[in-house]
Amino acid sequence: MSRAAVLCGLGGWVPAKAVANSTLAEQLDTTDEWIRTRTGIRQRFVIDPGQATSDLAVEAGRRALESARRTREHGGADGGPAPDVDLVVLATSTPDHPCPATAPVVAHRLGLAPVAAFDVGAVCTGFVYALATAASMVTAGLARRALVIGADTFSTILDPADRTTRAIFGDGAGAVVLRAGRPDEPGALLGFDLGSDGGGEELITVRAGGSRQRSTGAPAPEGDEWFSMRGREVFTQAVLCMSRSAEALLDGIGWRGEELDRMVAHQANVRILRAVGEQLGLAEDRLVVNLDRVGNTVAGSIPLALADAAASGGLRPGQRVLLTGFGGGLTWGSAALRWPELHVEPVPGLEGDEPAAAPDTHP
Ligand code: UT7
Repeated sequence: MSRAAVLCGLGGWVPAKAVANSTLAEQLDTTDEWIRTRTGIRQRFVIDPGQATSDLAVEAGRRALESARRTREHGGADGGPAPDVDLVVLATSTPDHPCPATAPVVAHRLGLAPVAAFDVGAVCTGFVYALATAASMVTAGLARRALVIGADTFSTILDPADRTTRAIFGDGAGAVVLRAGRPDEPGALLGFDLGSDGGGEELITVRAGGSRQRSTGAPAPEGDEWFSMRGREVFTQAVLCMSRSAEALLDGIGWRGEELDRMVAHQANVRILRAVGEQLGLAEDRLVVNLDRVGNTVAGSIPLALADAAASGGLRPGQRVLLTGFGGGLTWGSAALRWPELHVEPVPGLEGDEPAAAPDTHP
């Protein structure tokens, strides 16, 4: 039988400092009510001065490795003698430094060096792209066991005066471990759909700091160093692209939307999740939502939502699960699997605070 990449470990991490909507309202022309009703977000986490993306990635990675180890101990999906991780793929758009990539230092700090390690940049779709890359390497025999991390610290690139982006984004990370296995096992990644449209590059961008601006030799125009997003257009594209991508994937693997038990979509705005859910014919209780407590953590979003839901019983073995993401590039991507038996620890800072079925928002 052919080889598949199988999910066998999962962990999430957020920084210690939570920022409530009311705190933002003290600094900016916004209100808790606006943020909650337009996005579903109640709070987000931000790193302290001097911290960086690798700090979150290492913690999430450590917890995913521990989850894989404990899952094995408990006789879950990951049985048998285990080769160590020989690949680390990190999805991020906020690397510790513009050069080099952040994955090698994450691998080193986790004691995994000299494994292959590299970054993948697809903004909010980064985790799905990284998962597809690592899964392909596992199924091709290039890696036996892969650690796939999504981690971002957008608080470091947000304009402090931009009420729209500051209301949405937060820092966070999530990670999974993949091993080689069979396509009929729970946890096997059953298929991917990936896409992009660079014609929409301007919708989500940091204008300065790259070769386009630096080659001019002139200082960047004021404000261009910050992240900028054309929110309303991004909203429309997010709904369209995630729905289409999910439908293409489901068609490809022979699942119908109504058969899905859980949709774990990129956590940007609960109104987007509802709209995609509606397109796919999903009841509201099928949507995994944790953006109310973490905001939009970019590449960390999907694996952090997975860890949060798995630890609190929101994902159960055997369920049909769809992952779908959308982000800068523009990029989008989806993946599907049957949920495996996994030992997942609650994400510190989120434990005991059940993911909301659906925070109150305007329709
Ligand atoms: O992660 C990658 C993908 N990103 C996303 O998926 C984000 C997608 N976009 C969104 O989630 C929403 O478009 C936003 C949350 C960014 C904005 O919500 P919206 O309902 O689309 O608002 P809008 O941009 O249409 O703005 C409506 C009004 C504007 O005021 P005027 O022009 O009507 O007077 C904004 O200036 O709301 C204003 N506004 C705010 N007011 C209070 C925008 N942000 C805020 C704020 N507080 N934080």
